[in-house]
Amino acid sequence: LSPLTDFNYICMNLPCDVFMCVVGDSCCNPLSMGSIKKMIEEQISGVYVLSLMIGKNVVQDTENGFFMDVNEQVDTVCSQLAQDKRLQGGYNAMGFSQGRSFCTRAVAQRCPSPPMKTLISVGGQHQGVYGLPRCPGESSKVCDMIREALNAGAYSDFVQKHLVQAQYWHDPLNDDLYKTHSRFLADINQERAVNETYRKNLQQLQKFVMVKFLQDSVVDPVESEWFGFLKTGQAKEMETLQESVLYKEDRLGLAAMDKAGKLVFLGTDGDHLQFSREWFIHNLMPFLRS
Ligand SMILES: *[C@@H]1O[C@H](CO)[C@@H](O)[C@H](O)[C@H]1NC(C)=O
Repeated sequence: LSPLTDFNYICMNLPCDVFMCVVGDSCCNPLSMGSIKKMIEEQISGVYVLSLMIGKNVVQDTENGFFMDVNEQVDTVCSQLAQDKRLQGGYNAMGFSQGRSFCTRAVAQRCPSPPMKTLISVGGQHQGVYGLPRCPGESSKVCDMIREALNAGAYSDFVQKHLVQAQYWHDPLNDDLYKTHSRFLADINQERAVNETYRKNLQQLQKFVMVKFLQDSVVDPVESEWFGFLKTGQAKEMETLQESVLYKEDRLGLAAMDKAGKLVFLGTDGDHLQFSREWFIHNLMPFLRS
């Protein structure tokens, strides 16, 4: 496995000094990041778009999204955001699928400055995945490599560092291993000690919007897109965010945000990232305007 890094980051300045960042990949999306950017520019006049890329080329390849150290990516994104003068008044952020969605959440939790205002997660796997049903993308070779690596040990240091899929691999049957060795997901989901900074920072959000694709055949389990997951110790029964320890102990501040009306759960018909321009404009654009 060689760590390939690539990342697509688009930041937009909305008229009222609100900025937005889109992090995403183009692998399975009928609307590419480029076309989403263009659509937002058409809809919101005076929008500022900054595209940050880490890596070699535009994300077209599934591989790009698979091999990278998410923690390093978050650091890089944070420093780019901090350096952009136009973002200092705050921005709205959007993440599509893959690691990018919760990577964007990690940015909110770890980097309070500049402040993220609204976070929109589109098909994001907030509680990770436990399965590769249709290993996102077309490259079966990459999928086989990923499966092999995961079998070899999803929680080994090397695999955790270099394989994105492992960085959000959540094995409910090996909860201790997950909690101890997941370098990224267990950290941002407060599975170890509660980091008060994460709680405080996440609650600075005005809205946290989670979009779930009701016929998603890529994300397993799909409940993860609304922060639900398999109950610990087995691999059949699901629990919602509200039923989870994370929520009940409010380790991340999500229960408080829910009570304050800051959490928005949107469901849409269709497979992974299959949404139309009309759907986007009608359902997500309002959050980008505020
Ligand atoms: C909590 O998170 C912040 C922000 O990433 C980090 O600087 C700090 O070291 C963390 N604290 C602990 C106890 O892990």
